[in-house]
This record gives sequence, structure tokens and C-alpha cells, in this order.
Amino acid sequence: MAAEEGQWVLMATGRSPTNIAVIKYWGKRDEALILPVNDSISVTLDPDHLSATTTVAVSPSFPSDRMWLNGKEISLSGGRFQSCLREIRKRAQNVEDEKKGIRIKKEDWGKLHVHIASYNNFPTAAGLASSAAGLACFVFTLGKLMNVKEDCGELSSIARQGSGSACRSIYGGFVKWCMGKNNDGSDSIAVQLADETHWNDLVIIIAVVSSKQKETSSTSGMRDSVETSPLLQYRAQTVVPERVLKMEEAIKSRNFESFARLTCADSNQFHAVCLDTSPPIFYMNDTSHRIISLVEKWNQSEGTPQVAYTFDAGPNAVLIAPNRKNATLLLQKLLYYFPPQDNDLRSYMVGDKSILSDAGLKSIEDVEALPAPAEMKTPSQKFKGDVSYFICSRLGAGPKVVTDESLALIDSVTGLPK
Ligand code: DP6
Repeated sequence: MAAEEGQWVLMATGRSPTNIAVIKYWGKRDEALILPVNDSISVTLDPDHLSATTTVAVSPSFPSDRMWLNGKEISLSGGRFQSCLREIRKRAQNVEDEKKGIRIKKEDWGKLHVHIASYNNFPTAAGLASSAAGLACFVFTLGKLMNVKEDCGELSSIARQGSGSACRSIYGGFVKWCMGKNNDGSDSIAVQLADETHWNDLVIIIAVVSSKQKETSSTSGMRDSVETSPLLQYRAQTVVPERVLKMEEAIKSRNFESFARLTCADSNQFHAVCLDTSPPIFYMNDTSHRIISLVEKWNQSEGTPQVAYTFDAGPNAVLIAPNRKNATLLLQKLLYYFPPQDNDLRSYMVGDKSILSDAGLKSIEDVEALPAPAEMKTPSQKFKGDVSYFICSRLGAGPKVVTDESLALIDSVTGLPK
């Protein structure tokens, strides 16, 4: 197999972004293969702010496959992890590391076990599509370690079997997951519509909304919707096909008005499908609704969309501004209603903190002095503590290999998490 002594550990580390859908995936036509009932479109977020980092190690001394997430060992026995592992192993090639004197023949991979350690640079519990970044990174990094030669389309179809939305995290920029027609899922893959430089004025502000409620997982929520919601069928067959074409056009021509109208309408329809499910699923809460109304009133008063909003399977708002100027105006309005609980402004903004000074908000006194948004009819009430924190981000690139060995999550001698 390789260096005779059999004590070596070979590793690869990768980093993958998360993504947020602007045309939502909601509903499967095949649960095992994870085949959706409609196409979806997403934007990939900057991995500096929201991403998963994964190290995969292989050694002849490992007796079994093991995985750790954010430092805690988790089971790899689930069908989804197993599908991804099996599909990548099937495609494994010869690997040679001359420096370490290690040679692995492709037929050896079936006998070798892996250790996988993964870490999210954002709170997993915040409900920010951690499975998309995590599963994309799992597949991408295993593929690197095993010298898999397949293109991104093929990798996306493997990541899809880990979590549907993960297939879109294989690319940066704007990404479309084509639902495909084949029963074996071979044409259900993601494609890149445009890279992250295509429309780089866009600014993304995420409001991480405080919530004590345990949410229904996407997997079981969409299963219930498929079984019970008549609106889901109409959405998948009639609404989304047309919307996807218009969204592709809006992205291509950087038409923010169209992009924003489609994004908001699709988020609202996805949540309408959740309400149309029996029993109904509530992902948004009062804070989410207040943010929608703030944006809607602003957009209406200007006569054209200033900002777009979209919500996934949770109460967090993802707000997309066409430029820095609108993003700062948005932030002033948001902070007027949702000032920080503990008056600590710096830790209230994560990611690109420079947006605060751009908005003229250097201290809590600046926040307290903000004027009430003119377009709101009842501006007096504030909702301190209803937003946990904000993240300011932008579009980002797809998965990358991390070459700096000091950033690996597994110790190269013990083969265990550092
Ligand atoms: C609301 O990809 O988490 O975020 O395929 O069952 O793992 P599974 O579901 P998942 O669902 C994501 C749903 C969504 C919309 C979207 O990302 O398109």
C-alpha cells in the first residue's frame, strides 16, 4: 500500500461557503437520492464570514471511519454521510505523496478508513444553512484527499445526496440547482450562473433573530409540505419555472428591481407553502414580520425596491442591498428598531464591521440618536434584544483547499482532532 511501517497519516483540508436561496428548494420527489420538485437559485456568501472548514485524514492505523463536528464526535452512520462517502470512494484515484513516501493505489481506498473533523465559523444553532456548507465541504475535501478527478457538476450531485442545498455550495457567486428529470438523479446537479465578481456591489446583511422555539427541520418540514400542501404542487409546476427564467435574466443584466421583487415574492411563497402544510409550519416570528414590514414600507415609499429580503427555515432575515449606500440606510433603520441588548455595538455586528462607520454609527450614542424612519407610521416602539446580532457580508467564492497546514483540524501525528 505505502510506506511499509503503516504509521503514516495523510490529510487534506478544505473550506466551503454557505449559500442562501433566492428561489427556494422546498420539496423532494425522491427522498433517498434527494431530488427536488423544482429548480432553485442561490447566492454564495463570503466564506470569510460564513463557512465550514473540514480536515480529512487517512491512515492504515485507523480501525473505522469517525467524524467530529465543532470538536464533538458525531455518528457517521446516517444514510446521507454514507452515500457521500460511498460515492467519493468509488471515484478515488491513485495518490502519491513523495515527501512522506506514501503511495495509495486506487483499489486500496476501499480498505482504508478516514477521520473527518469539521468546524463552522458561525454558530451552528443560529440556523444559517450550516448543513449546506458542511456537506459541501465534506464532499469537496474527501474528493481532494482521494484525488477524485470529477468536475464540479459531479461533485455537486454527490453533495446533493448529503443535503439538497449543499449542492449549490460547490460554486461561488450565483448558482442554479437544476432539478433534472432522470430517476437516478444523474442530471440533478448545480451549475454556476455567474461568479462572485459579476455583481460585486451587492451587500448582504443578516439579522440573526433571537428565538427560543425549536424549529421543524427542513427535511421533515418539506416532507410534510409535499404530502399535504396543494400550494406546493402549484408552486413547483407553475410558478417556479417562470420565476427561475426571470431570475436568471435579472442576475445576468444586474437588474436589482427585478431581482428584489422575485426574491421577496419567492421567500413569501415558500412561507405560504409552510402555512399551507398540515399541521402548519411557522418559521418566521414577530421579529421576522417586523423586518419584512420595515423593508416593504421603505420600498413602497421609494416606489422601487431599495433592499430585498429572504427567510429560510427559521426566523433570521437575509437582506440584500444593491450597494453600500442602501446597506447603510438599511442598517440605520434596523438599528433604530433593534438596538443592541447590552449596548455593545462592536460585538453586535459580525463580518464586515466597517459598515457601522459607513453608516455613521461609531458608538451606542450614535444608535440612540438615530431618527425614526420617516416611512413608518408608528415609529415609537423599539424592540431591544429581539435581534441577537447582525452579520454584514457579500458574495463569495466556492470551496478552496487550505494549504496552510497549521490550519488543519486534525493532528498529523495522532490522527485525532487538535
Ligand atoms: C429553506 O437542504 O436543508 O433552506 O435536502 O433535506 O437536507 P435537505 O434540506 P435542506 O433544505 C433547505 C431548504 C431552504 C431553501 C433552500 O436552501 O433552497
